[in-house]
Amino acid sequence: VTTFEETPIMSTYSLAFTVSDFKSKTRHSGTIIHVSHKIKLHKITCRVCFITDQIALPDISVEAMENWGFISYQESGLLYDKSTASTFDQERVATLIAHELAHQWFGNLVTMRWWNDLWLNEGFATYMSYIGVQADGWDLRDLIVLRETQTAFQVDSLNSSHPLRLQENDIQTFSEITELFDDITYSKGAAVLRMLATFMTEDAFMRGIKMYLAKFEYKNTVYKDLLKCLQEIMTNVSHNDQETKEDLEGFMSTWIEQVGYPVITIITQTGETSQEHFLLKQTQGHEPHFQLQDKDEWLLANVNCAGFFRVNYDEENWNKLRMQLERYHHVIPIINRGQLIDDAFNIARAHRLNVTIALSLTKYLVNDTEYIPWESALKNLDHLILMFDRSEVYGPITKYLRNLITRLYDHFEEYTINGTVPEKHTDQYNQVNAISVACSNGLTKCITMAKSLFEDYKNGTNDIHPNLRKAIYCSAIASGDEYDWEFAWMEYQRATVAAEKDKLRYALSCTKEIWLLNRYLQYTIDSSKIRKMDMFSTINYIAKNVAGQPLAWDFVREHWSYITQEYGAGVVSLGSLLDAVTKRFSTEREQEEKNQGLAARALEQVIERTEANIKWVKENKQIVKDWFTGELSVN
Ligand SMILES: *[C@@H]1O[C@H](CO)[C@@H](O)[C@H](O)[C@H]1NC(C)=O
Ligand SMILES: *[C@@H]1O[C@H](CO)[C@@H](O)[C@H](O)[C@H]1NC(C)=O
Ligand SMILES: *[C@@H]1O[C@H](CO)[C@@H](O)[C@H](O)[C@H]1NC(C)=O
Ligand SMILES: *[C@@H]1O[C@H](CO)[C@@H](O)[C@H](O)[C@H]1NC(C)=O
Ligand SMILES: [Zn+2]
Repeated sequence: VTTFEETPIMSTYSLAFTVSDFKSKTRHSGTIIHVSHKIKLHKITCRVCFITDQIALPDISVEAMENWGFISYQESGLLYDKSTASTFDQERVATLIAHELAHQWFGNLVTMRWWNDLWLNEGFATYMSYIGVQADGWDLRDLIVLRETQTAFQVDSLNSSHPLRLQENDIQTFSEITELFDDITYSKGAAVLRMLATFMTEDAFMRGIKMYLAKFEYKNTVYKDLLKCLQEIMTNVSHNDQETKEDLEGFMSTWIEQVGYPVITIITQTGETSQEHFLLKQTQGHEPHFQLQDKDEWLLANVNCAGFFRVNYDEENWNKLRMQLERYHHVIPIINRGQLIDDAFNIARAHRLNVTIALSLTKYLVNDTEYIPWESALKNLDHLILMFDRSEVYGPITKYLRNLITRLYDHFEEYTINGTVPEKHTDQYNQVNAISVACSNGLTKCITMAKSLFEDYKNGTNDIHPNLRKAIYCSAIASGDEYDWEFAWMEYQRATVAAEKDKLRYALSCTKEIWLLNRYLQYTIDSSKIRKMDMFSTINYIAKNVAGQPLAWDFVREHWSYITQEYGAGVVSLGSLLDAVTKRFSTEREQEEKNQGLAARALEQVIERTEANIKWVKENKQIVKDWFTGELSVN
């Protein structure tokens, strides 16, 4: 008989206890409980840690759960092994811990009244994870724009998206609740809070948060309770400044209760500014025409992308911005260099801008080594590749990318060859970009380097730096044979640390051999081979591979009833699975193949996106092809 102490007043969903024979490890900051004594834990310097138990579980479907005082994680979310973890793995562990710890206040101490305000929990924990990790000395705060804002922009450009906060009545069933654990709730929630904090100043924002937590501890709230506390701080700060006496509740409620976000169009010649709801699928496209004045000055709006909106300009201003980037890009803040590219490509996808303007903005990247602009460009070029990698446009795109990436590859080559690590975290990420883009677009010296390191690995010495393993394993397997694949599969089965296992599991999806990919797909429904929790992400990896995508789509349809049976309709990752296997869809035949009865909102979003893709590809294929071909003939 175990007798428990009485808990504080708390929500039932955050109660948990465990029965296990795990070993525990107590540290100043609490207890970490884990499965295997083979794994040595290294200290993650942790200023955000405090007294709470944390447990790593071998097979759970969610990344982590913030149960009060007893946080549970997937192994790879908590256990950090220095010899196999990349900087990215370390960041993931750190941000996940920070996210779950933030929930101890936002969610556990103060709980939303009902699930329709879930964004209060998840948006806040996501926002705070960047602040927490930054406080620990990681200079990653700006990445919130790449990881959250841009992610939210994608899904929120669909009419089938949903507002941050829905009506209580609309969220009643289990599947309605689980469907809410999506990119809107997490990423848009975080992006909108960042906008609010920037508007108020972060200091005032934090004071408002403290007031809110103190006022409502052990109670339930709706989002307006939060806004009222923030309003009070604002009013105190600006008592003698009329201009900043803003009605917070008034202006924030539109961001919170309405679906989507605006695109602001600025006509620099006239100063005319207008805003419209930004939707990927426009009922009618339009492109402004104006008279041009011969001034060199350009205009840049939404500095550091603090506002949750996109900005469009007249073509003349876009061109001036491009010329500035080519002349001396440092004048434009790093976040905006990325955001200009992301805005241009997406505004072009919505037929509001000529795609050649977006493409031209990528040319200056030969001279930029920063991660945020590159990552933004690669994400968007990736989308272009998804649309065209089964067509004749793919050849010119690959050549262009190979030319574009060569300088970046060279920039990091000494590190790559020496096995040393650039100092800045974002440089480490961009080194990985350089290798994976160079190798996958056929830069010979990259492929030679990857194959040779992989050969050494097969011969018994794995000298590949953990940061580079995913990219190098993948390149070697993509250009390798059956024996390389078998070797990686053996290594996967042998590996005991989740971070290393995950790298190999990803790399196995990179082969171009159809029969190996089909075999790998079969493994995903055999839990003795691929753990249940890894099934979705493994299928997603395979679908990302151009050779694997049709196989993954067939596989998912064939096993749909098994998958829904095992995972339950409406489960979070079902939507993301559907999303992943259909990302490339851009033909009418593919649209017709989609079945009914899948995760409802996710399906609607997939259909809407495919319709937009079909239309866009039809209109832009020749233009895109001509642009890339033209660029190649210039060089
Ligand atoms: C957007 O969705 C609403 C219903 O959710 C519908 O009434 C409206 O017609 C849709 N708009 C477009 C442009 O598809
Ligand atoms: C790269 O920088 C050089 C030197 O500043 C400049 O001359 C060149 O035009 C730039 N290239 C591009 C494509 O921006
Ligand atoms: C690479 O190694 C060489 C020779 O040891 C050394 O001179 C150079 O500084 C190293 N470069 C980097 C970036 O690690
Ligand atoms: C790996 O081992 C094989 C067989 O022992 C040998 O032929 C090959 O040269 C070795 N490769 C490297 C890169 O050392
Ligand atoms: Zn959370």
